[in-house]
Amino acid sequence: MPDVYGNSWPHLPVGLLVWLATTDLRLWVYGLRPVYGLFRFLHLFGVAGFLGMLMLIEVKRLGFFASSSFQAMRLPVLTLMNSAFALTVVTGLALFLYDPVGVGLHTMFLPKLVLIVLGLIHAYGVERTPMMRNQSLRRLSAAVALVVWTLVMGASTWNAVERPLNPADVHRVDPRVK
Ligand code: HEM
Repeated sequence: MPDVYGNSWPHLPVGLLVWLATTDLRLWVYGLRPVYGLFRFLHLFGVAGFLGMLMLIEVKRLGFFASSSFQAMRLPVLTLMNSAFALTVVTGLALFLYDPVGVGLHTMFLPKLVLIVLGLIHAYGVERTPMMRNQSLRRLSAAVALVVWTLVMGASTWNAVERPLNPADVHRVDPRVK
Protein backbone atom coordinates (compact mmCIF):
# COMPACT_ATOMS: atom_id res chain seq x y z
CA MET A 1 0.00 0.00 0.00
CA PRO A 2 1.47 3.43 -0.87
CA ASP A 3 2.45 5.55 2.13
CA VAL A 4 1.95 9.26 2.69
CA TYR A 5 4.44 10.14 -0.09
CA GLY A 6 2.83 7.80 -2.59
CA ASN A 7 5.22 4.83 -2.71
CA SER A 8 6.03 1.70 -0.72
CA TRP A 9 9.77 2.18 -0.21
CA PRO A 10 11.25 1.06 3.14
CA HIS A 11 11.30 3.80 5.77
CA LEU A 12 11.94 4.15 9.50
CA PRO A 13 9.35 2.21 11.56
CA VAL A 14 6.15 4.25 11.99
CA GLY A 15 5.85 3.13 15.64
CA LEU A 16 9.29 4.59 16.42
CA LEU A 17 8.46 7.86 14.62
CA VAL A 18 5.13 8.24 16.44
CA TRP A 19 6.84 7.54 19.78
CA LEU A 20 9.52 10.15 18.96
CA ALA A 21 6.88 12.67 17.93
CA THR A 22 5.32 12.57 21.39
CA THR A 23 8.48 12.72 23.52
CA ASP A 24 9.11 15.80 25.67
CA LEU A 25 12.30 16.52 23.72
CA ARG A 26 10.40 16.60 20.41
CA LEU A 27 7.65 18.81 21.85
CA TRP A 28 10.35 21.19 23.13
CA VAL A 29 12.04 21.30 19.69
CA TYR A 30 8.60 21.86 18.08
CA GLY A 31 8.15 24.86 20.38
CA LEU A 32 11.28 26.40 18.82
CA ARG A 33 9.32 27.27 15.65
CA PRO A 34 10.84 30.78 15.43
CA VAL A 35 14.32 29.26 15.07
CA TYR A 36 13.35 26.48 12.62
CA GLY A 37 14.62 28.65 9.75
CA LEU A 38 17.88 29.15 11.63
CA PHE A 39 18.30 25.34 12.03
CA ARG A 40 17.77 24.95 8.30
CA PHE A 41 20.21 27.72 7.49
CA LEU A 42 22.84 26.23 9.83
CA HIS A 43 22.27 22.77 8.34
CA LEU A 44 22.97 24.09 4.85
CA PHE A 45 25.88 26.17 6.16
CA GLY A 46 27.40 23.02 7.72
CA VAL A 47 26.76 21.03 4.53
CA ALA A 48 28.46 23.71 2.42
CA GLY A 49 31.55 23.80 4.64
CA PHE A 50 31.76 20.02 4.96
CA LEU A 51 31.34 19.28 1.25
CA GLY A 52 33.67 22.07 0.16
CA MET A 53 36.51 20.78 2.28
CA LEU A 54 35.76 17.13 1.53
CA MET A 55 35.98 17.90 -2.18
CA LEU A 56 39.33 19.62 -1.72
CA ILE A 57 40.72 16.54 0.06
CA GLU A 58 39.19 13.91 -2.21
CA VAL A 59 39.98 15.67 -5.50
CA LYS A 60 43.61 15.82 -4.35
CA ARG A 61 43.50 12.09 -3.42
CA LEU A 62 42.10 11.40 -6.88
CA GLY A 63 45.42 12.66 -8.21
CA PHE A 64 44.52 16.14 -9.46
CA PHE A 65 46.75 19.15 -8.64
CA ALA A 66 49.63 16.74 -8.00
CA SER A 67 52.26 19.51 -7.99
CA SER A 68 50.62 21.60 -5.24
CA SER A 69 51.35 20.63 -1.64
CA PHE A 70 48.46 20.27 0.77
CA GLN A 71 50.45 19.21 3.84
CA ALA A 72 50.59 22.61 5.63
CA MET A 73 46.82 23.12 5.29
CA ARG A 74 45.88 19.57 6.25
CA LEU A 75 45.21 20.15 9.97
CA PRO A 76 43.11 23.35 9.62
CA VAL A 77 41.11 21.85 6.73
CA LEU A 78 40.40 18.61 8.63
CA THR A 79 39.44 20.52 11.80
CA LEU A 80 37.07 22.81 9.89
CA MET A 81 35.63 19.88 7.93
CA ASN A 82 34.91 17.88 11.10
CA SER A 83 33.38 20.93 12.83
CA ALA A 84 31.17 21.59 9.82
CA PHE A 85 30.09 17.93 9.80
CA ALA A 86 29.25 18.07 13.54
CA LEU A 87 27.13 21.20 12.91
CA THR A 88 25.38 19.40 10.02
CA VAL A 89 24.52 16.37 12.18
CA VAL A 90 23.32 18.41 15.20
CA THR A 91 21.10 20.67 13.07
CA GLY A 92 19.96 17.67 10.97
CA LEU A 93 18.80 15.95 14.18
CA ALA A 94 16.98 19.14 15.22
CA LEU A 95 15.22 19.28 11.81
CA PHE A 96 14.28 15.62 12.17
CA LEU A 97 12.99 16.07 15.72
CA TYR A 98 10.92 19.07 14.63
CA ASP A 99 8.72 16.74 12.54
CA PRO A 100 9.75 13.08 13.04
CA VAL A 101 6.79 11.55 11.19
CA GLY A 102 6.84 13.90 8.18
CA VAL A 103 10.62 13.73 7.83
CA GLY A 104 11.08 10.04 8.73
CA LEU A 105 8.60 8.91 6.08
CA HIS A 106 10.32 10.84 3.28
CA THR A 107 11.25 8.40 0.50
CA MET A 108 14.97 9.13 0.72
CA PHE A 109 15.36 9.73 4.47
CA LEU A 110 16.32 6.15 5.41
CA PRO A 111 18.61 5.83 2.33
CA LYS A 112 20.20 9.16 3.35
CA LEU A 113 20.96 7.87 6.86
CA VAL A 114 22.34 4.59 5.43
CA LEU A 115 24.57 6.55 3.02
CA ILE A 116 25.84 8.77 5.86
CA VAL A 117 26.77 5.68 7.89
CA LEU A 118 28.49 4.17 4.81
CA GLY A 119 30.37 7.45 4.28
CA LEU A 120 31.57 7.44 7.89
CA ILE A 121 32.60 3.77 7.77
CA HIS A 122 34.49 4.53 4.56
CA ALA A 123 36.19 7.60 6.10
CA TYR A 124 37.24 5.92 9.34
CA GLY A 125 37.50 2.24 8.38
CA VAL A 126 38.87 2.34 4.82
CA GLU A 127 40.52 5.68 4.03
CA ARG A 128 42.93 5.44 6.98
CA THR A 129 44.20 1.91 6.33
CA PRO A 130 47.77 1.15 5.12
CA MET A 131 46.41 -0.18 1.80
CA MET A 132 45.74 3.47 0.87
CA ARG A 133 49.48 3.79 0.11
CA ASN A 134 48.58 2.05 -3.14
CA GLN A 135 47.80 4.86 -5.58
CA SER A 136 45.05 3.05 -7.49
CA LEU A 137 43.22 2.06 -4.29
CA ARG A 138 43.57 5.61 -2.96
CA ARG A 139 42.03 6.99 -6.16
CA LEU A 140 39.24 4.43 -6.02
CA SER A 141 38.45 5.26 -2.39
CA ALA A 142 38.43 9.01 -3.20
CA ALA A 143 35.93 8.35 -6.00
CA VAL A 144 33.78 6.23 -3.64
CA ALA A 145 33.74 9.02 -1.02
CA LEU A 146 32.74 11.62 -3.64
CA VAL A 147 29.96 9.38 -4.98
CA VAL A 148 28.58 8.55 -1.49
CA TRP A 149 28.44 12.19 -0.31
CA THR A 150 27.01 13.34 -3.64
CA LEU A 151 24.26 10.73 -3.23
CA VAL A 152 23.60 12.09 0.30
CA MET A 153 23.07 15.51 -1.32
CA GLY A 154 20.76 13.99 -3.94
CA ALA A 155 18.71 12.15 -1.31
CA SER A 156 18.46 15.34 0.80
CA THR A 157 17.27 17.41 -2.14
CA TRP A 158 14.68 14.75 -2.98
CA ASN A 159 13.38 14.83 0.61
CA ALA A 160 13.35 18.62 0.78
CA VAL A 161 11.16 18.94 -2.33
CA GLU A 162 8.91 15.91 -1.72
CA ARG A 163 5.32 16.70 -0.78
CA PRO A 164 2.76 14.27 0.71
CA LEU A 165 0.35 12.64 -1.67
CA ASN A 166 -2.94 14.35 -0.88
CA PRO A 167 -5.57 11.60 -0.67
CA ALA A 168 -8.14 14.12 -1.94
CA ASP A 169 -6.21 14.40 -5.22
CA VAL A 170 -6.64 10.69 -5.85
CA HIS A 171 -10.40 11.10 -6.07
CA ARG A 172 -10.38 14.47 -7.78
CA VAL A 173 -11.29 14.36 -11.46
CA ASP A 174 -8.24 14.93 -13.65
CA PRO A 175 -9.06 18.17 -15.56
CA ARG A 176 -7.27 16.78 -18.62
CA VAL A 177 -9.77 13.90 -18.83
CA LYS A 178 -12.79 15.05 -20.85
C1 HEM B 1 22.35 12.62 11.00
C2 HEM B 1 22.53 13.45 10.00
C3 HEM B 1 21.46 14.24 9.27
C4 HEM B 1 20.13 14.37 9.56
C5 HEM B 1 19.33 13.75 10.70
C6 HEM B 1 19.58 15.27 8.55
C7 HEM B 1 18.26 15.68 8.49
C8 HEM B 1 17.75 16.57 7.58
C9 HEM B 1 16.38 17.05 7.53
C10 HEM B 1 15.30 16.62 8.48
C11 HEM B 1 16.26 17.91 6.51
C12 HEM B 1 14.99 18.68 6.06
C13 HEM B 1 14.42 18.08 4.79
C14 HEM B 1 13.72 16.78 5.06
O1 HEM B 1 12.53 16.80 5.34
O2 HEM B 1 14.36 15.70 4.96
C15 HEM B 1 17.55 17.99 5.87
C16 HEM B 1 17.83 18.76 4.76
C17 HEM B 1 19.00 18.72 4.08
N1 HEM B 1 20.12 17.99 4.42
FE1 HEM B 1 20.35 16.84 6.06
N2 HEM B 1 20.57 15.62 7.69
C18 HEM B 1 21.74 15.01 8.09
C19 HEM B 1 22.96 15.08 7.49
C20 HEM B 1 23.17 15.67 6.27
C21 HEM B 1 24.41 15.60 5.52
C22 HEM B 1 25.67 14.86 6.01
C23 HEM B 1 24.22 16.30 4.37
C24 HEM B 1 25.16 16.55 3.20
C25 HEM B 1 26.36 16.13 3.06
C26 HEM B 1 22.88 16.84 4.39
C27 HEM B 1 22.32 17.62 3.40
C28 HEM B 1 21.08 18.20 3.45
C29 HEM B 1 20.55 19.11 2.46
C30 HEM B 1 21.29 19.60 1.19
C31 HEM B 1 19.25 19.43 2.85
C32 HEM B 1 18.27 20.36 2.12
C33 HEM B 1 18.10 21.60 2.99
C34 HEM B 1 17.05 22.56 2.46
O3 HEM B 1 16.57 22.43 1.35
O4 HEM B 1 16.73 23.47 3.23
N3 HEM B 1 22.27 16.43 5.57
N4 HEM B 1 18.44 17.18 6.54
